[in-house]
Amino acid sequence: MATINQNFLNLKESYLFSDIAKRVSAYQEAHPEAEIIRLGIGDVTRPLAPAIAEEMARASLEMAKAETFKGYGPEQGYGFLKRAILEHDFAARGVSLSEDEIFVSDGAKSDCGNFGDILGADNVVAITEPAYPVYIDTNLMAGRQVKFIECRAENGFLPEVPDFKADILYLCSPNNPTGAVLSKEQLRAFVDYANANGTLLIFDSAYEQFISDGALPHSIYEVEGAKRCAVEIRSFSKTAGFTGIRCGYTVVPHELTARDAAGNEVPLNRLWNRRQTTRFNGASYISQRGAAAYYTPEGRAQCRENVAYYMENAKLIARTVRGLGIPAIGGDNAPYIWMQCPDGLDSWSFFDLLLERAQVVGTPGVGFGAAGEGWFRLTAFGTQEHTARAMERFTNLFGK
Ligand code: MLT
Repeated sequence: MATINQNFLNLKESYLFSDIAKRVSAYQEAHPEAEIIRLGIGDVTRPLAPAIAEEMARASLEMAKAETFKGYGPEQGYGFLKRAILEHDFAARGVSLSEDEIFVSDGAKSDCGNFGDILGADNVVAITEPAYPVYIDTNLMAGRQVKFIECRAENGFLPEVPDFKADILYLCSPNNPTGAVLSKEQLRAFVDYANANGTLLIFDSAYEQFISDGALPHSIYEVEGAKRCAVEIRSFSKTAGFTGIRCGYTVVPHELTARDAAGNEVPLNRLWNRRQTTRFNGASYISQRGAAAYYTPEGRAQCRENVAYYMENAKLIARTVRGLGIPAIGGDNAPYIWMQCPDGLDSWSFFDLLLERAQVVGTPGVGFGAAGEGWFRLTAFGTQEHTARAMERFTNLFGK
């Protein structure tokens, strides 16, 4: 009989967002009349920007003609998209990278997990906590030792450089779930730590388009020395409405290396390319055309409008929650608001209370790790109408 990967037995019974979805459907089934407002998983609600939708429609018609039909594409992504990424996401911010350092994928979630394929199971992994559960779960699946860098309320939930030696360290800024954003100086401290300790930084910047403060960095490569120690993972999901379409990318600089068993330095770009060519046949042509349309003047303007729309929600949520005297962070340069559960409630009790008394769904902070206990995440990705209604319900429930 086949045996299982024993490491899976170290995981929680179910994935956080599946667990929430199950609880919400059970509640809806028991209360069919309830008008539930979902501010839990960060799924976009705005329809696709017209410039992107039109380009995808055009691309699908190309697929219907013999002369322009596309079969397998390059596993690393099409040049037209990689060149747009290089110009707009990096050159525009003074970062110079080459086309073969960009690997287009079917989204940041997959890349966050898959990147571990090319890394040893004996690495010690540091994860800032609270954290996007994919970082923790995928490392547990691989049997790696995980240590946490606990982020605390007193520090605005910003992580500090660890006082232990980690081989791999995950950073997410703007942060999911807390909405905290690292300054360039704070990021530099991690880059210096990584270069001094031979640590690989996995920098998740899926939410960088939500930064409005001009002083905050969007890419880790804005920090000197980061190409020697960091990969960066980006997503079109929230920026361009691709949660259902799927497209993202990972940057693996040529200078970045890790050691083999004999102590030789091996370029991770080569290894990741080897992994992707074996396991992945590339993101679909249609979604890559859509992603490229995001970088056109019309695409960018339309997506910026969507981001502004969500950030209006973020501001309303933050204002309402703080106005009720509840401590909260985030919502300024990130689409998440991280609030303390009122009356000393634990995260799941507050989840239940909010669902039962206000029919509003959020995400219990403890689902992002023990450091999130007693906290709760609200997302700005709802419609403005639903968000306003949810905040009215908050005021009715918690206003004195
Ligand atoms: C979240 O709600 O944390 C995200 O939407 C989940 C994801 O991006 O996979």
